[in-house]
Amino acid sequence: MSRAPELAERLLFQEAVTLCERAYAPYSGFAVGAVVVGPSGRSHHGVNVENASYPAGLCAERAALAAMIAFGERRLRYVAVAASEGRDCLPCGLCLQALAEFGDPEVVASVSGEVRVLRLSDLLTAPFAGAGAPAEGAAPECPPGGGPAGKAGR
Ligand code: THU
Repeated sequence: MSRAPELAERLLFQEAVTLCERAYAPYSGFAVGAVVVGPSGRSHHGVNVENASYPAGLCAERAALAAMIAFGERRLRYVAVAASEGRDCLPCGLCLQALAEFGDPEVVASVSGEVRVLRLSDLLTAPFAGAGAPAEGAAPECPPGGGPAGKAGR
């Protein structure tokens, strides 16, 4: 169900740790950083962004996912997530559902104080699929020739 990280995966996790300092989490004090990686191998960053109206807050993983989509990639390979002070943090259920829309990436996270690699489909075995496959042009394919990733031929 989980395995030890390889060097590159450990570095990705460290990247997520570094991001924590940019989180905006004055209400919970639980700072989270997330890095998602698509086919290009480029890192897309996200942090949690809280709000005085608590439900308006955003998790780090979905912030990173949005950055990847805006860049022009729609296929997830890796999701690294880290909380400040070495605290454990696996993606919440809402984030698992959001991430599952774009593939079955490996998730690099701290579990019981150790960095581990897990498969998203092991964390969310039955994502909601709505009415079935998305319409043509929707996720997970990139727009034809579109986005910086597509233009760069990655
Ligand atoms: N949080 C994340 O950013 N990712 C998760 O997967 C779990 C929770 C954030 C939301 C909130 O800002 C804080 O952590 C405490 O729940």
